Amino acid sequence: MLIELPRQTEVFGSVKIHELQRILKLDSGGFKNPRAKDIPFDELKDVLNRFAVVIPVKDEKIHLLDGVLRAIPFNCTIIVVSNSERGEHDLYKMEKDMITKLHELTQQEVLLVHQKDPEVGFAFYEAGYDYLLDKDDLVRDGKAEGMIIGMLLAKSVGKDFIGFADADNYIPGSVREYVLDYAAGFCMSESPYSMVRLHWRYKPKVVEERLYFKKWGRVSEVTNKYLNLLLSTNSGFETGVVVTGNAGEHAMTTKLADIMRYSPGYSIEPYQFVYLFDEFGLKAEKMAYPDAANAGIEIFQIETLNPHLHEEKGEKHIKDMLLGSVCTIYNSKLCNDYVRSKALEELGDILDTWEKPPEVTIMPPIGGIDADRFMDMLEGKSETLVRYKETRR
Ligand code: GDP
Ligand code: CO
Repeated sequence: MLIELPRQTEVFGSVKIHELQRILKLDSGGFKNPRAKDIPFDELKDVLNRFAVVIPVKDEKIHLLDGVLRAIPFNCTIIVVSNSERGEHDLYKMEKDMITKLHELTQQEVLLVHQKDPEVGFAFYEAGYDYLLDKDDLVRDGKAEGMIIGMLLAKSVGKDFIGFADADNYIPGSVREYVLDYAAGFCMSESPYSMVRLHWRYKPKVVEERLYFKKWGRVSEVTNKYLNLLLSTNSGFETGVVVTGNAGEHAMTTKLADIMRYSPGYSIEPYQFVYLFDEFGLKAEKMAYPDAANAGIEIFQIETLNPHLHEEKGEKHIKDMLLGSVCTIYNSKLCNDYVRSKALEELGDILDTWEKPPEVTIMPPIGGIDADRFMDMLEGKSETLVRYKETRR
């Protein structure tokens, strides 16, 4: 792979944010170029062997999930966390049947579990991590909640890197690229605490019966603006470095995943920046993770070659995402009165009143949970856990 080197890197305390990097060639020939990094496929493969791709899914079209699963490079482990409908119209069962067939044909390692499995709730409860449980001790609805289950499964199979891919992607080939882009980021990284976030080159929409290759979505524009404002107002130097505030497609080293805090639902992605700025930024108070602070937290932002074409979820979904994103920024320790008043203005259309936006309950790091024990508790007892091993090697 040939990837542009970042032209600039913003350093904010222990956090390094690299400027957007373009993929120049998905496959390359070892050409030495001072402005680009050539990463041989063998190096990418070494990362993929230690990589789990988590796919959160809730009631998506089975054809889309099928395409996504088939596109994920063979060397990775696939982890599907489903919150799909059960009961009479058992979508989860359809997903399971499809995955069973796929494994028969490919022998790739796959794990599947349902978010509402009582044994999953119980395993969290036993681990003393009840932050994502509802009153019945089941895991709540929410994408972040599903992602956390996926991260624990990834840890239980000993993976060093965890990436995410949505299940509602119409272009399987783009999913394959995302995973390779993640691997490229980790090949470039110098810190064991690093994160790769993807930025779509285009997000095509149908406008007046024609395909229009849109570059920016409304939510991401707003989220990025406020994340940059947090950086600018605290450092005194204006920046526009953050372009991946809402990146659903992102990956982390397991070491970083272990020390992150997580915001529920769809606000998980923008909150990752807020948390890193608060915890490791210029004004960080006590250092809870001195190793990470010393090594530095590295954030890569990569522009994909493929466009991103996914299921449209409607205006309410967009508003919820916007609210979730801006709220996490509003509640940041680094937010001053100016940024807060701007954020309130932004939310004026969405919040009925001009009150303070709701506080978000943040979930603490998962590093303290014993993932092997978590898995042992599920295996044998859980009715929805399916674990297909790789049998080729
Ligand atoms: P967007 O692409 O960011 O606008 O959001 P989507 O609605 O497409 O959600 C991203 C991914 O998360 C999709 O694969 C959804 O099916 C999945 N998802 C949404 N809600 C949940 C949930 O409650 N649990 C799980 N496990 N996945 C979810
Ligand atoms: Co989507």
